[in-house]
Amino acid sequence: MEGYPTPEINYLRMSVTDRCNLRCFYCTYWQDWEKLAAAEILRYEELLRIAGVAARLGIRKIRITGGEPLVRRGLPKFIRSLRRIPGIDEICLTTNGTLLAELAPALFEAGLRRLNVSLDTLIPGRYLQITGRDNLADVLRGLECAAALGFHSIKINCVVLKGINDDELLDLALLARDHPLQVRFIELMPTASPREWKRRFLPAAEVRRRLRALGELAEMASSVTSGPARIFKVQGFVGEVGFISPMSEHRCGSCNRLRLTAQGRLRPCLLAEDEIDIKEAMRRGCADPELASLFREAMQSKHRGGASAGESRAAAHPSMAAIGG
Ligand code: 5AD
Repeated sequence: MEGYPTPEINYLRMSVTDRCNLRCFYCTYWQDWEKLAAAEILRYEELLRIAGVAARLGIRKIRITGGEPLVRRGLPKFIRSLRRIPGIDEICLTTNGTLLAELAPALFEAGLRRLNVSLDTLIPGRYLQITGRDNLADVLRGLECAAALGFHSIKINCVVLKGINDDELLDLALLARDHPLQVRFIELMPTASPREWKRRFLPAAEVRRRLRALGELAEMASSVTSGPARIFKVQGFVGEVGFISPMSEHRCGSCNRLRLTAQGRLRPCLLAEDEIDIKEAMRRGCADPELASLFREAMQSKHRGGASAGESRAAAHPSMAAIGG
């Protein structure tokens, strides 16, 4: 788009499963949710092939998401193989943390160092209310375990829910005062119920305003692969706080990512329904150049989008269980 800065697309989010062991009410219409047949989900070899093609087109960073990626067997070995792909210099994992204490040693051993752990509350009863499962203690144990092993970039993803966890925002932010963590507050998206969204949505600007009670927030420059998050330093904090505002501020101009769904479709934008089926192409035996051209198509359709498209896209309600955030 003319006059519109288009950042290099260097970041691929790969959903390795649609399964999740939590049932967060805001994620998906769980009543209608049906898991994919195992054969529909990309195999690790397929994911590695895709990562290789993507790396040759400029992808530098891969985030593994789900569903919940740690429910898929063999993930540490997959990460080890991903690390061997030339050009991929950053691998991150988004997890709900429930299985982290168990798997962190194998993940660390496989070379993973970066984790995003979802955590919306520090109160056990509330955790149960939000996720449908009583696993808060497991998540906290997982975080401790990961920190002790030496994971050096640990981010907490906190979805802000008015009337549910918005009285805890300062407590959650304080995790970054005492630990070298980044606590990121995420605006709720209407991926499950638009009615709940109206009741529960709290804009990032309001969260920022409330966090000023902890001290002045000084915005930090973003790195080339950091994407649309805005990161702030608070005086006296060893970590940082961040804000991701897919609803109130579309930062399409700084979005550098593509998404690959568990069933093998490339999705140029979280908020748009367009997807390119690359599994179909692979399973009918296409060669790498064709795969690369499907990737280029996705990258170009992203660049065509621009800021205005972002605004009209807010109405799309993707299922996070399939896309992985
Ligand atoms: N709005 C905002 N974030 C969401 N996530 C899942 N569903 C939503 C939603 N409706 C977040 C999870 C996790 C990440 C993968 O996506 O909490 O942190």
